Amino acid sequence: MKRTVIIDALKSTALNEPIHVCGWVRSRRGNKNVSFIALNDGSTIKNIQIVADLSKFSEEQLKPVTTGACIGATGILVASQGAGQAVEIQLTDLEVFGTADPEKYPLQKKGLSMEYLRTIAHLRPRTNTFGAVLRIRHNMAMAIHTYFHEHGYFYFHTPLITASDCEGAGQMFQVTTKNLYNLKFDENGQIDYSDDFFGRSAALTVSGQLEGELGAMALGKIYTFGPTFRAENSNTPRHLAEFWMIEPEVAFIDKDELMDLEEDFIKYCVRWALDNCMDDLEFLNQFIDKGLIERLRSVINTEFVRLPYTEGINILQEAVKNGKKFEFPCNWGDDLSSEHERYLVEQHFGKPVIMTDYPRDIKAFYMKINEDGKTVQGTDVLFPQIGEIIGGSVREADYDKLNAEIERRQIPMKDMWWYLDTRRFGAAPHAGFGLGFERLMLFVTGMQNIRDVIPFPRTPKNAEF
Ligand code: 4AD
Ligand code: MG
Repeated sequence: MKRTVIIDALKSTALNEPIHVCGWVRSRRGNKNVSFIALNDGSTIKNIQIVADLSKFSEEQLKPVTTGACIGATGILVASQGAGQAVEIQLTDLEVFGTADPEKYPLQKKGLSMEYLRTIAHLRPRTNTFGAVLRIRHNMAMAIHTYFHEHGYFYFHTPLITASDCEGAGQMFQVTTKNLYNLKFDENGQIDYSDDFFGRSAALTVSGQLEGELGAMALGKIYTFGPTFRAENSNTPRHLAEFWMIEPEVAFIDKDELMDLEEDFIKYCVRWALDNCMDDLEFLNQFIDKGLIERLRSVINTEFVRLPYTEGINILQEAVKNGKKFEFPCNWGDDLSSEHERYLVEQHFGKPVIMTDYPRDIKAFYMKINEDGKTVQGTDVLFPQIGEIIGGSVREADYDKLNAEIERRQIPMKDMWWYLDTRRFGAAPHAGFGLGFERLMLFVTGMQNIRDVIPFPRTPKNAEF
């Protein structure tokens, strides 16, 4: 018989008809007369209840039906007498696909810690929490593609292997086929890459932006959505060494339009979650973060604050004057640390903040320099609990200014003639941003640690699974 997925079975009105479902056993309980099997197949957070009449099934037959086992169940769909579900299945045929030894299966108990679940990341998708997170993750990806498609953007594929360090932070993972124990060196003692796979040094990308800009200079509006890599030794709940980034790049927009896009886009994604993932959000709201749904609703209904960096510093210094203690200083020119961002977002304004016009020396080389010569047109979005969720900017489109900035920073640009060409041939004003997909996931799920919103996290000293 054809399999019905459990999300459909639970909604079915074909009562007293035969039905066939498959899935993993969440629990089995019962008495002398009946056994109740809670079955989940991942299509929804909800289980379907299978009722086995012990006059038709022996204990021996049901013995392999333990938590974690995989079964196929055929039976009759009936209205449920019990509370909590509209329908259940009266079992007529049972097939056991795979047993799960109760002595050994690690997901027996409820309430396992997130830390422990990370050590069994190969099995944790079978928990309610990770099932919910992963279904929402899929939905966020669909929201992102739909948003851009509906707004006339083209999905542009930028390379993962590159020779350029977009953010200039020196956090790239090298890609080589060379024997690291037998390297060749030139007369200056530098590694000779001429016989390496690409004939030059290469690395995993930290951002698709530079190539994305090339796309925008031809297609007008593009976005990327792919993995990015940072060899950043940050052991925090908000950093991964491999994370997914969404990077739209748009010709002919200015700073205000860029901020409009950032705000509209995030709100669209959050609204999508509320419209499409309510079962999973309700679960997370109950068990992970009691304020989650309310916070999601409030974000789509508030206007984000737009705050120049200089004003932000004034607010922080005023707070310090009034007795607020920060661990790090906050003088003009300092990069804000997360305590500062959180103070502004969570305490001072109580809503998301788009911070603009940062000092040029704390931002990347490609940002458009303001008239004052001191600040650049960055537009980062800061979120409650998350901190920076988006990093964006208007790009410097003027060849001379960009070139001067590159020289001032002593960036080795000889290999980036192609990037400068966009400023030599048909240069256009343009802007874009990068949204950290897992940071968005943190916000939308209420999860506390970025390691728990991606199936297999990559962090310093950890590349298991
Ligand atoms: O602010 P970032 O470094 O900006 C860029 O890479 C630009 N090239 C983007 C652009 O304008 N096209 O990174 C963008 C976002 C951050 O705001 C943050 O959400 C996320 O990427 N991010 C990380 N997420 C997880 N782990 C890390 N190590 C991250 N580093 C950045
Ligand atoms: Mg940033």
